[in-house]
Amino acid sequence: MRKRLGYLSMRLASLVLLLLPLSSCTHANTAGKPLALALIPMGTTDEYWRTIHAGAEQAAAELGVRIIWQGPMRRDDRGAQCDVVDNMVVRRVNGIVLAPVDNMALRGPVEDAFRSKIPVVVIDSDLQSDRAASFIATNNYKGGMMGGDYLAKLLGAKGNVVLLRGVEGNASTDHREQGFLAALKTYPGIKLLSSNQHGGGTSETAYKASENILSQFKSGDGKLKIDGVFCPNESTSFGMLRALQDSGFAGKVHFVGFDSSQKLNQALAKREIDGLVVQNPMRIGYLGIKTIVAHIKGAQVDKRIDVPAALVTSDNMNETAMHDLLNPPLDRWLK
Ligand code: BDR
Repeated sequence: MRKRLGYLSMRLASLVLLLLPLSSCTHANTAGKPLALALIPMGTTDEYWRTIHAGAEQAAAELGVRIIWQGPMRRDDRGAQCDVVDNMVVRRVNGIVLAPVDNMALRGPVEDAFRSKIPVVVIDSDLQSDRAASFIATNNYKGGMMGGDYLAKLLGAKGNVVLLRGVEGNASTDHREQGFLAALKTYPGIKLLSSNQHGGGTSETAYKASENILSQFKSGDGKLKIDGVFCPNESTSFGMLRALQDSGFAGKVHFVGFDSSQKLNQALAKREIDGLVVQNPMRIGYLGIKTIVAHIKGAQVDKRIDVPAALVTSDNMNETAMHDLLNPPLDRWLK
């Protein structure tokens, strides 16, 4: 029995010793080794996230820190993203920059990171938690209003409009949809035909949802009763674009989307899309890394950093500032 107790206490002692160095070096800038920072996007299929990554790599190059880039494939996979955050806490990274898929589901893993003394900066989409050191994003409500006002202007403040929503519980698209609907309310001549369909996490699911909406509002003679469309992010905008193209209505319906990508930019140039509310993911990714490193080093950081979006239209897309926003230097920063 005595031997058994001796063995157990040895095991316990070695376990405590094993943990000690980890807990003591969690916050310290490990001398001679670059800080290891996890950058966890919502998904990895949209070009938007590649641009976030590029901006983060630019900041990492300037600061001499290391980025661990890992996220779920689909931007609606709450479980997968929670697992990534948990895994980074176990790996004891020095900090986490996170774009939460869901404004509630990621609260637990972020709480665990906080309790493990691993700081978190939230980017892109808000989280209902006060544990983040900072929240860096577009003002998504304002972005949605911008889209709504522009669509109303295109329609001469009258006509039938549909909204294809993003992913339920995702703060970024939820807030854009709210802003869009609030803007539309100021135009009594505009009728909202549909606003309860969700495009989901990929352009494929958005394509199917868009097809359903278009067929719902096609009259017997093949005419479309829809005059204007708004989509709140890259995947819903691309899914709707493809559905309009495949049904022969691209360019015949006023269309305001969100975000940019090579395909959305091409459609803008061909006037199949009238306008895109374009964010600055390069800057959001860059500021995400800069801010978490400043926080780790003990500097005071702003709790909310707003990165403005711009309305890019078929008419202004070749202006230098807009052109640069549509064509970020990804290859320069992504190997
Ligand atoms: C899109 O999802 C949003 O959370 C981002 O802001 C972007 O609009 C990318 O998948």
